[in-house]
Amino acid sequence: MVLGCLLALFASLSPAMAAHRERTFLMVKPDGVQRGLVGEIIQRFERKGFKLVGMKFLQADEALLKKHYEELAGRPFFNGLVKYMQMGPVVAMAWEGLNVVKTGRDIIGATNPMESSPGTIRGDLCIQVGRNIIHGSDSVPSADRELALWFDSKELVSWKQEMETWIYEETK
Ligand code: RTP
Ligand code: MG
Repeated sequence: MVLGCLLALFASLSPAMAAHRERTFLMVKPDGVQRGLVGEIIQRFERKGFKLVGMKFLQADEALLKKHYEELAGRPFFNGLVKYMQMGPVVAMAWEGLNVVKTGRDIIGATNPMESSPGTIRGDLCIQVGRNIIHGSDSVPSADRELALWFDSKELVSWKQEMETWIYEETK
């Protein structure tokens, strides 16, 4: 019993396991919801092997969106961006996995869909920068900040993905 607890604690502290638990904040923007692309977007992350650990559907208010995009407050498109993001409900999500922040950005594609590669979400599914259907955190610190902004800690669910053995190599 005690040994089991110690082994579980050791496993939870191993660096490889911690890497698997990197988290990012993704959001289907109002245009993605209106265009019926929620399932398609979720499917791309699911099929990759990442693990959904939090999700909610909400109408975001101005204060939340200004806080979310606070780093862009000085940019000329800021007010338009905050309005766009209030045009309808969004799907806020937390996803977990090895290198999920960087890989998530790669799956999403470049900010401007005119420059996003085919095969990426933006490259395949949208046309203009002001209607680019999905948000993804751009770094681990941004992900931590955004997850704390959009979710209470109890809304994020730690669960065992039974397929994990088939997604990740065993750690030695
Ligand atoms: P996001 O935060 O939404 O994932 O997008 P991003 O990192 O790829 O790009 P970022 O620079 O953070 O810009 C945030 C969102 O602002 C809109 N935008 N419009 N009109 C413009 O030149 C312009 N530039 C950016 C986009 O909706 C972009 O996703
Ligand atoms: Mg950004």
